[in-house]
Amino acid sequence: MIKVLFVCLGNICRSPMAEAILKNLLEKEELSKEVIVDSAGIGHWHIGKQPHEGTKNILDQNKITYEGISARQVQDSDWDRFDYIIAMDTQNMEDLRAIREKNDVKVRLFMDYVEGEESNDVPDPYFTGNFDYVYDLVTEGCKGLLKEIKEQNQLKEEK
Ligand code: 4NP
Repeated sequence: MIKVLFVCLGNICRSPMAEAILKNLLEKEELSKEVIVDSAGIGHWHIGKQPHEGTKNILDQNKITYEGISARQVQDSDWDRFDYIIAMDTQNMEDLRAIREKNDVKVRLFMDYVEGEESNDVPDPYFTGNFDYVYDLVTEGCKGLLKEIKEQNQLKEEK
């Protein structure tokens, strides 16, 4: 079983959106049992909360469920539990590296999976309000990530 963790600052906008979208893609490809997805935040402010209204709205519009998704904070045991830890922006990546004392980080940047984009950051819609643009970026990135996961783990190809 392959385990993926998305990490952003608050765990209410970007990373739960990525969690819901990747779970939806896995469901469609019948890979939900092979790949487990979770998300977490650097900050503790929203622990236990559902995703932000903006994230819920755009997921609803696209008929993607976020049932059962609630915010939690990153914890040290995540490094042992997850195979892929994906930071939504460079600050999240730096924060993850600072939290982790051991120098064995396996953190990747989400934007590495989005082709043709200059920026290394998924812009934070908590501050920009642009959930539509973030939805497009996150959908692209989740598709790219899933492709890599399938290649690296020799999972079955899309039907
Ligand atoms: P996220 O957005 O990191 O994409 O979940 C944020 C949500 C909340 C806060 C910051 C960013 N906040 O400062 O409460």
